[in-house]
Amino acid sequence: MVEVRTRVRRARDMQQNIYNVRYICISVTLLKWLRYLTDISTMEIRIGGGDLLGPALPKVRDALIKALYEATEYPYTNTSYPPGEGVPQLREAVAEYYRKRWHIEYESSQVVVTCGAWQGVAATMNALLKPGDEVLITDPGYVDYYNSARDINVKAVPVPCRKEKWHFYPEDFKKAVTDKTRMFIHSNPSNPTGSSMTKEEWEAVEDVAEERDLLVLSDEIYKEIVYDGKDAILPAQFKGLKERTIATCSLSKISNGPGFRVGLLLIPEELYPKIMKYIIVYMGRARPATFVQLGAVAAYTEPRNHVKEIREEYEKRRDFIVPRLNEIEGLSCPMYEGSIYPFVDITQLGIKTADFVKELRQKEKVSVRDGESMGVNLSKGKLRLCVREPVPVLEEACDRMERFVKSLKK
Ligand SMILES: Cc1ncc(COP(=O)(O)O)c(C=O)c1O
Repeated sequence: MVEVRTRVRRARDMQQNIYNVRYICISVTLLKWLRYLTDISTMEIRIGGGDLLGPALPKVRDALIKALYEATEYPYTNTSYPPGEGVPQLREAVAEYYRKRWHIEYESSQVVVTCGAWQGVAATMNALLKPGDEVLITDPGYVDYYNSARDINVKAVPVPCRKEKWHFYPEDFKKAVTDKTRMFIHSNPSNPTGSSMTKEEWEAVEDVAEERDLLVLSDEIYKEIVYDGKDAILPAQFKGLKERTIATCSLSKISNGPGFRVGLLLIPEELYPKIMKYIIVYMGRARPATFVQLGAVAAYTEPRNHVKEIREEYEKRRDFIVPRLNEIEGLSCPMYEGSIYPFVDITQLGIKTADFVKELRQKEKVSVRDGESMGVNLSKGKLRLCVREPVPVLEEACDRMERFVKSLKK
């Protein structure tokens, strides 16, 4: 036992030296930087996926180690199955975080811990929608909403985001509604466009939702990543939407922990039994481990300085990459307002997006995502990039993209 304690302490001390919270925003360890410096010009660069690179937050790491260590001590509660709704400490911390940070009143009894935000989205869609229903999804919008709607025989109706910076006109939202519409599903700020919903947009949603009795599934995993000194606006902040909104968030993006698989659902009381029943019956005991949930509490309690630091780093990356992409003749990319995704128009180049993606990878070893499936009409001719790497790597990726684009014109 003494030996285990010493080893845990040594590991913690070592980690403490490696990670300093002020450098989390750099999002790579010293070793990674060395790798970049030595072989940046030849390495394969993957800037299509949203799996952000970054060290575990020290306070989450410490809480995880503590919870795991305590699992070896009587009464061994940290080795037990977690309760179906999640550990009470995390449910309380998340309700309080929403109350203080977002001024939305939630009770801990409305919070459910899920395996990532995605399990929450899937459970909500499956529990509340039936075949033949319609859901509104922005076009462009998150590809998995479109896929999941199709999988459960629900019709995905696109809301065209044809206003500047991928916003929608209230009349387009209203036009998309029919007698079968049940829900609006949206990631705010958006994956893949980075648009951050305005008060006017939410007011349009509120009007229609009240009139037509619609629900909102609000995917809030990027809500802390909004730039230019602004903040996200959330649907539950609107009186007419509060009891119609199911919100989901997770440790995946702003807390550098996609692999921890900790997600949260915040559910209005009336809808709670239906969603919870679905989770219990169909998702069984698939939950993040008890000690992981206990470690995750730290991500939602103060101090949360890491949020500002990580956001500033992503903002720096955005401020570099958007002007740089626009310098490349034939590419265009609006300055996105939040999230981590430059959404790039390549229609001027006259090449299919699938061919662009394939050839760029083959010739220049840069991977980006084909954006065509991320919507219906407005995603045509688009690529989705992700600022998952620091500026020097993005710089190299852009240089290679420019060389590739020039080669297309020869
Ligand atoms: C909009 C959106 N929702 C949900 C997810 C999945 O999140 P999680 O890792 O918490 O399951 C992602 C992941 O990239 C995403 O971009």
